[in-house]
Amino acid sequence: MSCPFGRVNGEEGGQERSLGDFKGLNYTSYLQLHHILHAQETITEAHDEHLFIVVHQAYELWFKQVIYEIDSVRAIFSEEEVNEHKMLEIVKCMQRVVLILKLCVDQFLILETMTPLDFMEFRDYLSPASGFQSFQFRLLENKLGLKNELRVRYKQETYKKVFGDDPEILKAIKDSEEEPSLQQLLSRWLERTPGLEEEGFNFWRKYKIAVDTTQEEKRREAEAEKEEHMKNHIYAQYKCRQELFDSIFDEKIHNALMARGERRLSHRALQGALMISFYREVPRFHQPYQLLNLLMDLDSLITKWRYNHMMLVQRMIGTQLIGTGGSSGYQYLRSTLSDRYKVFIDLFNLSTFLLPRNSVPPLDRQMKTRLSTMEEPEMEERRGKVVRSSAFSASGFVSSESPCPLDNSEEKMFSDSDLEKSLEESIERSCEASM
Ligand code: HEM
Repeated sequence: MSCPFGRVNGEEGGQERSLGDFKGLNYTSYLQLHHILHAQETITEAHDEHLFIVVHQAYELWFKQVIYEIDSVRAIFSEEEVNEHKMLEIVKCMQRVVLILKLCVDQFLILETMTPLDFMEFRDYLSPASGFQSFQFRLLENKLGLKNELRVRYKQETYKKVFGDDPEILKAIKDSEEEPSLQQLLSRWLERTPGLEEEGFNFWRKYKIAVDTTQEEKRREAEAEKEEHMKNHIYAQYKCRQELFDSIFDEKIHNALMARGERRLSHRALQGALMISFYREVPRFHQPYQLLNLLMDLDSLITKWRYNHMMLVQRMIGTQLIGTGGSSGYQYLRSTLSDRYKVFIDLFNLSTFLLPRNSVPPLDRQMKTRLSTMEEPEMEERRGKVVRSSAFSASGFVSSESPCPLDNSEEKMFSDSDLEKSLEESIERSCEASM
């Protein structure tokens, strides 16, 4: 493939005119390099100031791209139905975000080639400008779902104070606070995880039984233990786990933790996330599980970004100096490393509630069928029926107006066709693999 900006298309002497020619488009004009490459105006003679500007600008461009991707994921999640194809799009965007953030985490290394003495040459001229005034960084935090009340206050003021009366920025910030965040949209989507309904498989009831059984085993183990200190140890473990499990089975405790910001997903969304984690090998849950992992990657990478930035600051200005924006600099940045700033904290904590594979409630036949991949065109064609893409729709996993032909009615489902038989076998295989 030739360069997308090239005009010669390989034909003999041929210079094919493209649409861009008519607009006088070329590499420089299309990328608006006249703007971008003239935007590095240093205010001192210090050699390293140029690097300082370029690195910040590169960060802001990447922030812009990350926001762009997060906005499109939010748009998809806001739709009535999130089908398989859209899940693929979401996962693609999130993979891109994760890669960009990895780059951002490492990009500090380049700025670290500047010594504190080099920085001193122009640092004082920057005041009161500060990265704290990066409105894109705030947009990103808000769009992901960082709650205002969980932020560390800056000079006892709201973070918005630094934007003064810039109407455009203030409007963008206000919108980002009011629109549903990725975290909220994820929570709503997880609430619709198939298998959570009271009727049918009822994952939550089965999970509770499995937890009670494992806990009972632990209690018996403690009772049977002869040695006193071992007995106490096993009892302590048992009680500790019981408290943890109570905190998810008792919705009131869960909601109290939510109110304190220690949990962010709704009670039902947490159930959905757990279900996806347990049955991740089932075809329908492949992409949802991938997404949950990507969201944890995202949170980890933002925390790593905060950490690397803080280390850079410590290296450049030490721990005592007041930041150019007037906060306690290093100390303030350190406080943003806490779990309060992790938007998808519940996903990290899911591992606390996992059970050993042999205690995981097995999926029943109907559930296995629901969670299988059923969108092969050949299958639809042969059945002569329309199967709506059915994952995680707002009205439930499978729409009631257009029931999936593989659901419920066993006579209809497993009649005589070889195709159906082979489908069932493949479902069995993938579900067994997940146990
Ligand atoms: C020599 C390099 C740097 C120094 C000394 C520095 C210093 C600081 C300090 C002291 C703060 C705390 C607020 C304040 O009082 O000003 C801060 C915040 C911030 N800086 Fe930097 N910074 C540097 C590089 C960067 C770079 C390359 C970026 C990339 C965009 C950046 C983005 C930010 C952001 C977004 C905040 C707000 C963080 C938050 O509130 O959680 N900084 N910086």
